[in-house]
Amino acid sequence: MERLEEARLEIESLREQILYHDYQYYVLDSPEIADAEYDELMRRLRSLEAAYPELITADSPTQRVGGAPLAGFGQVQHRIPLLSLDNATTKAELVDFDHRIQRRWQGEPITYVVEPKIDGLAVSLTYEDGIFVQGATRGDGERGEDITQNLRTIASVPLRLRGERLPRVLEVRGEAYMDRRDFDQLNQRRGEQGEPLFANPRNAAAGSLRQLDSRITASRRLNVFFYALGYHEGLELDTHWQVLEYFKTVGLRVNPLIEQCQDMVAVWEYCEKIEARRDKLTYDIDGVVVKVDNLAAQDALGATGKSPRWAIAFKYPAEEATTVVEDIIVQVGRTGALTPLAILRPVEVAGSTVSRATLHNADILKAKDVRIGDTVIIRKAGDVIPEIVKPITTKRTGQEKVFTLPDHCPVCNAEVQRLPQEAVTRCVGTACPAQLVEGLVHFASRGAMDIEGMGPAIIGQLVDTGLIKDPSDIYFLSREKLRDLPRMGEKSIENLMTAIDASKTRPLARVIFALGIRLVGEAAARELAAHFGSMERFTQASREELQGVPLIGEKIADSITTFLEEPQNRRVIGRLAEAGVTMSEANKKTAQEPGPLMGKTVVLTGTLEGYSRQEAAELVRSLGGRVASSVSRSTDYVIAGSNPGSKLAKAEELEITILTEADLQGFLKE
Ligand code: IVH
Repeated sequence: MERLEEARLEIESLREQILYHDYQYYVLDSPEIADAEYDELMRRLRSLEAAYPELITADSPTQRVGGAPLAGFGQVQHRIPLLSLDNATTKAELVDFDHRIQRRWQGEPITYVVEPKIDGLAVSLTYEDGIFVQGATRGDGERGEDITQNLRTIASVPLRLRGERLPRVLEVRGEAYMDRRDFDQLNQRRGEQGEPLFANPRNAAAGSLRQLDSRITASRRLNVFFYALGYHEGLELDTHWQVLEYFKTVGLRVNPLIEQCQDMVAVWEYCEKIEARRDKLTYDIDGVVVKVDNLAAQDALGATGKSPRWAIAFKYPAEEATTVVEDIIVQVGRTGALTPLAILRPVEVAGSTVSRATLHNADILKAKDVRIGDTVIIRKAGDVIPEIVKPITTKRTGQEKVFTLPDHCPVCNAEVQRLPQEAVTRCVGTACPAQLVEGLVHFASRGAMDIEGMGPAIIGQLVDTGLIKDPSDIYFLSREKLRDLPRMGEKSIENLMTAIDASKTRPLARVIFALGIRLVGEAAARELAAHFGSMERFTQASREELQGVPLIGEKIADSITTFLEEPQNRRVIGRLAEAGVTMSEANKKTAQEPGPLMGKTVVLTGTLEGYSRQEAAELVRSLGGRVASSVSRSTDYVIAGSNPGSKLAKAEELEITILTEADLQGFLKE
């Protein structure tokens, strides 16, 4: 009994803390704790509730996971109808709106509240004594669908309001929406899984909320901004502004861009200001809503038909338009990524002319089934590259051409590769001009061949003048050739030649790393060098042998084989050898030196006082240990400095021994 009482107290305290941190995060947008700490509170609460299921309540923050699917949605009769808004598209129409109000309202001067018009779907939520009891869609304004279970899964919807003496009944209204970035990720996943794509964030939000299976809703990232008071008992406020302030105090998330305006001049300035920022927002908006602030004035003004007289929506130009796909081309980015691009008949969208749209990658291309010659709906939202929403298939004539990504790079003709579980198709050629500069910057960088003085600027010049066409050309540069470069004095030439020469003796591991094989980082390169001992043996390794090397899994092994099969890359390796670059491990050691950490896999996280990350890694290796970049069940120790990241939480979860910097130093004395 006493145990139960203790658990009850701790559960209550955890819920209070979580509610407080939700408020800091969602309403004030200023979290006080790290995600890992928050997760820890949730973990503790979950484990206590698992031990004492009788203490679980519906308003516990753990109860957002979604429940068994419904057979259908129930109906909800709105106690006060949800109205829609009249639109204005010009300044003159806004001024008319103001005039109508001034004529009808004889009381004190009118103040307006102006709010971004979020492009999502309207929802109504009812709280009784502070507890969320029911949520509904707008429906036809009189009756909506009961989506309580789905709304419960949204992190920014409080299951319980903050504060004492909460109103008996409080119905609040707001807009549920999906951030553009979450929308893109969702479509990306759907493309990969061959599921139909959502046309825009609003459809994605609506589709996610009108799910009979609330577990699906829980897996989507939705958000809500609250913007209106509905039916209420036990709350008295005078202005809409006060309503919004009140919302914030009880933990209901309110859009931070909302302002008060004393007159139409200020309202117009606000409309222009928000339109200028429209691209930078993380969510879609389709205009600004202008509302009379005084609630008594709102009442007096009333409504005509389905829209209130006291509010109006100023609409921005649509971010979607229709045009024709004249061609589809493939662009090769600096990392070798192939991106299909639609060349469009130029069209005006939300204030700019659009003539190209991205088709992202092979999956999205396939999922959207956009063909050359198609009439399409395009969307330009945010400061991202415009994209194609979908083809209008009813406009097809049969002349349209299906397009698929080529299997060779359109720039250098090397093979292209798509790794399992990756959306991007890449050119694997190291000498591909499209990726050359970036590849060379990596090759010469500190952790790789470490060629001092060979930074992006010089590399850019060397590539532009044609002196370098692949990394091996670095070792065939001469003083005479370098003299042709602009702004290269004798001294700089001398220094560069010395640095290039010095880099020839870098250990094999660095040479392998410098090649820039996808997925082969420093740690993997070190294992490969230790295992094979020479470049020759490495280049002859079979996929199976590669997979036998520590840290090398199936994906990395695949990436290495494709890389080595490309003739361009073999040629580069051959010329590096010819130039005298180290091609074998000087004194071939086993991967691990004997020492107190022999055979142990160690992960570093956070900042250490006495060592840089690199130094700490060297130290671990000199003690015989192996350094890994992420925590897994095979990790033996995690060394945590200050401000550790999620690796520490993961280590705790897996019950891995956590060491301090002092422990690490302690090994030195052993
Ligand atoms: S107030 C009577 N404020 O726009 C006024 N609506 O066309 C009711 N909307 O159905 C709405 N952002 O879904 C209001 N800040 C905002 C809004 C907003 C988006 C949507 C809402 C409503 C539609 C009206």
